[in-house]
Amino acid sequence: MKKIFLYALVVISTTASAQNDALKNKVNQSADKIESKVIAWRRDFHEHPELGNNEFRTAGIIAKHLQLLGIEVKTGVAKTGVVGILRGGKPGPVIALRADMDGLPVIERTPVPFASKVKAQYNGQEVGVMHACGHDSHVAILMGVAEILSSMKNDLAGTVKFIFQPAEEGAPLGEEGGAELMVKEGVMENPHVDAVFGLHINSQTEVGKITYRPGGTMAGVNDMKITIKGRSAHGAYPWSSIDPIVVSAQIINNLQTIVSRNLNVTENAGVVTIGSIHGGNRSNIIPEQVEMMGTIRTLSAEDEKMIIERIKVIVTKTAEANGATAEIKIPYTSHYPVTFNDVALTEKMLPSLRKTAGTENVLLKAAVTGAEDFSFYQQKAP
Ligand code: NI
Repeated sequence: MKKIFLYALVVISTTASAQNDALKNKVNQSADKIESKVIAWRRDFHEHPELGNNEFRTAGIIAKHLQLLGIEVKTGVAKTGVVGILRGGKPGPVIALRADMDGLPVIERTPVPFASKVKAQYNGQEVGVMHACGHDSHVAILMGVAEILSSMKNDLAGTVKFIFQPAEEGAPLGEEGGAELMVKEGVMENPHVDAVFGLHINSQTEVGKITYRPGGTMAGVNDMKITIKGRSAHGAYPWSSIDPIVVSAQIINNLQTIVSRNLNVTENAGVVTIGSIHGGNRSNIIPEQVEMMGTIRTLSAEDEKMIIERIKVIVTKTAEANGATAEIKIPYTSHYPVTFNDVALTEKMLPSLRKTAGTENVLLKAAVTGAEDFSFYQQKAP
C-alpha cells in the first residue's frame, strides 16, 4: 500500500511542479511519517463498510479530515460525495484525484481483526457488507495525499481537487449515483479540471508493484435487451407459426461472429454475451415471443459503435429473414464508457512511476473486460 500511496503523491507532485526534486523528497518523507495513520484509517473503513449512496459515516470522516486541513469542502455531491479543493501558492493546472467510497453486498469471511460484521438492506434483502473491492484503501490513501499536499500548499503549482465519490459499484435500484452523477453535478468544473487520476488496488498485483496501461484499459459496457416477436402455434404444427425460439437460436449464433469476424482482435478485445433467454412455458406450444438480455464489452469507442451497429443489423435481418420482428434496446439499463487512459499523459507520468517504485516494478498490464465508472470523468478530462 505504501508504494501505491507514494505513487499517487509523486504523480501529483511532478505534474504540478515539474520534477522538483526537493519537493518530491519532502513528499516521500511525509508519506513515511503518516503511513501508520493511513493504515489505521483503512482498517477503520474496512470494519465499517457502507453500500453505494449510503456512505454517510465514511463521508463524514473524510469531510471532517479535509476541513481540519483547511481545504475547501463540499459535501452531499451526488448524494454522499465529498469534494475538496486545495489551491496551491503558485499558478498551475487543476488536477483531480479520485477515490471511491462504497462497499459491496458481500459477507466478509476473512480472519483479520478488522473484518466487517456490518449488515444492511439491499434490494429488499438483508445482506452482509464488505469492502471487497479495496475502496477502503482508496479513501485512506487519498486522505493521506490530502494531508501531505495541504502541508506544502505554498509550494504547490496549481490546484488539487480531491474527489471522494459514492456508488462506484452501481447505485441501488431506481437511484442515480457514482461518477456519472458526480459529473452531472459539475465536479469537473469550477474550477475546470485539466487532468484526472485514479488508482485501484488489487490482490493479484504483488506489493510494491504498479501496473498501468495506456489507451483502452477497462471495458466500456452496454447491456442489451432483445425481443423477438413471431406467431404462436401448436408445437405439432410449426408451419403455422413464426417460431421466435428458432429465430433466437440463429441470432445467438450469428452474434458470435461479430467478435470473431468483425473485430480487429490484434488491436483490442471485445465481448458479446447473451446471459439470459426467456420464451414459452410448455413443451408443445411455440410461443409468441422470446426475450434475451446480454452484455457488450469493448475497449475503444470505435469498437463500441461498430459492435452495436453489427448487433442491430444481425438481429433485425435475422428476424426479418424468418418473418419475425425484433426490438433492440442498447443500452437497456446501464452504460459505462471505456476507461481510456490518454496515451500522451500516461507516457508523461511513467518516469514518476518508475522513480517511485523502481523501473522493474512498473509493469504494463493487460486490458480488463470489467468496467470502472472512472470512465465518466475521462469524458471531461484526460
Ligand atoms: Ni473497485
